[in-house]
Amino acid sequence: MEGLPVIQRQSAPDRLNGDDRQLTYTPGYRAPVLTFMKQRTAEIHAAFFAPHLKKGCRLLDAGCGPGSITLGLARQVAPGQVIGIDIDIEESQFAIAREQAQQESLPVEFQKASIYALPFASASFDAVFSHAVFQHLADPVLALIELNRVLKPGGIIGIRAADSGGILLDADSDGPTEGLAAYFANRANDGVDPNVGSWVGCCEPPDLRFSKLPHRTR
Ligand SMILES: C[S@@+](CC[C@H](N)C(=O)[O-])C[C@H]1O[C@@H](n2cnc3c(N)ncnc32)[C@H](O)[C@@H]1O
Repeated sequence: MEGLPVIQRQSAPDRLNGDDRQLTYTPGYRAPVLTFMKQRTAEIHAAFFAPHLKKGCRLLDAGCGPGSITLGLARQVAPGQVIGIDIDIEESQFAIAREQAQQESLPVEFQKASIYALPFASASFDAVFSHAVFQHLADPVLALIELNRVLKPGGIIGIRAADSGGILLDADSDGPTEGLAAYFANRANDGVDPNVGSWVGCCEPPDLRFSKLPHRTR
């Protein structure tokens, strides 16, 4: 399809080429950002993925942030092992989720790692999930290849990513429009695509087949 990235039959390490990709996360990890993310739940934000999960499956949540969705997924697949990874640049995100997991005796681990170079063996997860991460990645295709690497044959990947191209603003002042323009300028400066959700489901690394699933957004 015209305009879509061409997927090369390369492994992530080949593409990484010494890892020159910047690991940045512009929104940061200040309290309001984390409070906003912690309100997310697997029931709502991973609703499209739940029907595909089986009890006991081993699941990776890539870019798990403060882990509220990760914990919900762990409840769904228990006693299956769940691992949440995140670059967690400020080392501040995992503490509360770890404590909660311990209280509930959930088999969840949180590790600091990059989605571009996962510290896991190939074909080691039954299910791989990533929520609201791809719009922050400079190389979403590389991330997809790496997620696919750790997926077992017959496993499933669930990605929910932003497509900001559909935002319509009707405001009494110029403020919101200017704010949105500043946001897009900032995204462009970071070299990330706020519309990645519009195409990431169409690019197919070898052996991966994507379907767009209907899901109400919130
Ligand atoms: C908007 S938050 C989403 C967090 C969580 N998935 C959720 O929906 O609540 C995006 C997360 O992606 C993480 N992230 C960004 N780049 C990453 C990378 N290269 N590898 C792993 N995580 C990354 C950030 O640290 C941040 O925690």
